[in-house]
Amino acid sequence: MADKKKLLRALAGEVQDVPPIWMMRQAGRYLPEYRATRAQAGDFLSLCYNPELAAEVTLQPIRRYGFDAAILFADILLVPQALGADLWFVTGEGPRLSTITQKSDFDVLKPVDAIHETLSPVYETVRILSRTLPSETTLIGFAGAPWTVATYMIAGRGTPDQGPAHALREQETALFEALLDRITEATIEYLSAQIEAGAEVVKIFDSWAGSLKGAAFDKYAVAPCRTITQAIKDRHPGIPVIGFPREAGEGYVGFAKATGVDCVALDNSVSPDWAAAHVQADGCVQGNLASSHMVTGGQALVDETRSIVQAFSNGPHIFNLGHGITPDADPENVQLMIDTVRGG
Ligand code: CP3
Repeated sequence: MADKKKLLRALAGEVQDVPPIWMMRQAGRYLPEYRATRAQAGDFLSLCYNPELAAEVTLQPIRRYGFDAAILFADILLVPQALGADLWFVTGEGPRLSTITQKSDFDVLKPVDAIHETLSPVYETVRILSRTLPSETTLIGFAGAPWTVATYMIAGRGTPDQGPAHALREQETALFEALLDRITEATIEYLSAQIEAGAEVVKIFDSWAGSLKGAAFDKYAVAPCRTITQAIKDRHPGIPVIGFPREAGEGYVGFAKATGVDCVALDNSVSPDWAAAHVQADGCVQGNLASSHMVTGGQALVDETRSIVQAFSNGPHIFNLGHGITPDADPENVQLMIDTVRGG
């Protein structure tokens, strides 16, 4: 496998002395060059839909740090927008969308075939990246998982406990499931189009999976991830899939087997030793340094980075944070993390 890119080797199950490394939200506000390009684009959504500038911000952290993977610059909420939801971002607060509280809100959504009309600039970003990335860098495409995307479409914003989505799920189950199915089908088409444009790996972000418990976790986190993963593997054999059921806790155990994903991304609420024994036992894992170390730095960053590399050293591992890097992070701490992973 020596000719294969480092990230793809980990995803194929190879144990490496130095794990490949990339970072969630690696193109983001902690980088001055990102802030400059975002200002040039005007706002965040204009940046997402401008292929040249979206490719530029994707490349910035690769140039600065030489990460082993680049993740397409876009957002999980572009899919709801492509399905007809209104979407805007309020500075300092986050996303806002039209809400789905009754069947008539669902009925006005567009059919899945219509999504490419809105999303075609994203595929162009992928095409630009696939011809400009260094030959050793893997290009990751992504989408939100149906449950996480639905929580935003239902509430019209981020919510601390996903209350509105849980209420719809319990009180209007048929409507909730119809919405989840629509998002699932759209996600399969969206990820397939990214792969056709040049994405080499896809990642499914289920940021709010942790608020689904027991049978609801199986039905609304595991099952949709399995449906998407199987469809991707049928259409695009050999394309690895990373699943990220954030804060799933015990739900991480057996997640790869139940869904067919090639790698499970871990948040930092689980200990690396526990995850090595119970999750990495089934295959590749990604994670899981607390992103707060990118703000605080110092010896604690070095010690924690080393102990994560050590804990996962007997199996396939991709080094990453447990969640996205935050805008208050110090770019020098990112370099310190990389030097620690690569230099010991
Ligand atoms: O990781 C990457 O660098 C790839 C690009 C990416 C973004 N968002 C860019 C972004 C990815 C993979 C996402 C995923 C995403 N988006 C998730 C799942 C992962 C997670 O963080 O839990 C979610 C829930 C969203 C929805 C979203 N987008 C929120 C809640 C926010 C506001 C919070 C914030 O950080 O401001 C965004 C905005 C967003 N998406 C930014 C970036 C770089 C910040 C926008 C800016 O420049 O102002």
